[in-house]
Amino acid sequence: MVTGEIIKGRFQGRVVVVTGAAGGIGAATARRFAAEGAALVLADLPAAAAKRKTVMDACRADGACDLLDLDCDVSRQDDVVAVMKAAMMRFGHVDVVVNVAGYMAFKLIQDFSGDEWRQLMDVNFMGAVYFTQEALRVMQPGGAIVNVSSIHAFQTTARVAPYAAAKAALASLTRSTAIEGKPLGIRANAVAPGAIDTPMFWTSPNIASGEEKVPDNMLGQPESIAAVVAFLASSDAAFMTGSIVTADGGRLSTL
Ligand SMILES: NC(=O)c1ccc[n+]([C@@H]2O[C@H](COP(=O)([O-])OP(=O)(O)OC[C@H]3O[C@@H](n4cnc5c(N)ncnc54)[C@H](O)[C@@H]3O)[C@@H](O)[C@H]2O)c1
Repeated sequence: MVTGEIIKGRFQGRVVVVTGAAGGIGAATARRFAAEGAALVLADLPAAAAKRKTVMDACRADGACDLLDLDCDVSRQDDVVAVMKAAMMRFGHVDVVVNVAGYMAFKLIQDFSGDEWRQLMDVNFMGAVYFTQEALRVMQPGGAIVNVSSIHAFQTTARVAPYAAAKAALASLTRSTAIEGKPLGIRANAVAPGAIDTPMFWTSPNIASGEEKVPDNMLGQPESIAAVVAFLASSDAAFMTGSIVTADGGRLSTL
């Protein structure tokens, strides 16, 4: 379902790449851009191919003008280069890249192996680095990058240190990209969601154990994040770059 105030045609003629497109926030984001007329490139893991197909069908029904559905493990630079190359070959330009792909894992700092730390950083941070590199190489002035960070970039809980570190690094990358993108006419912003009603939230052991409590009125829907992403990618946000926009139902502001 696409909710919110859809601005028909806002992204007509624009090509939008969404990673993690088979997941809760990724799918809602893709569908929002589809409903506003974009051509979409949906990228997610091969294991998510069936879900991606469902999202693709939904995007088509929502109004996407064209669609490309691609396997991509964002932690593999070759995969990322291949996605951007395929997008350029199909459409001739890429205008928006939304880095959504991510995952959480739950252990104490000392219990994560080096490989587990690296994999969490590779998916939650390096994937966005690789897409940013390609975007800065191929995007024309007016292009926009939107990174999906997290409130874990600012405040966090036990047992998610690599994830929180990666999301903080992603916020920092957003600022650096804004600086280096400025002379190219490319903007970079991030949204930092609070708790969002997706599989990632509900499978968190910290939520299941009750250690992390989220009041009902601070649990958001993926469509609310999609709306912020679309705004940040749009010309209405032309004066915004390097911003990290919190969308958490007020959670970080509450004592
Ligand atoms: N749900 C929340 O409460 C919440 C809060 C803050 C931030 N976020 C962030 O939002 C983003 C989306 O999360 P979600 O809640 O939709 O979770 P989700 O689990 O529904 O979706 C995540 C998607 O990322 C994909 N993915 C995982 N590893 C990948 C890889 N290596 N390459 C490509 N794709 C990969 C998964 O297949 C999945 O489709 C994540 O970056 C997450 O950290 C979520």
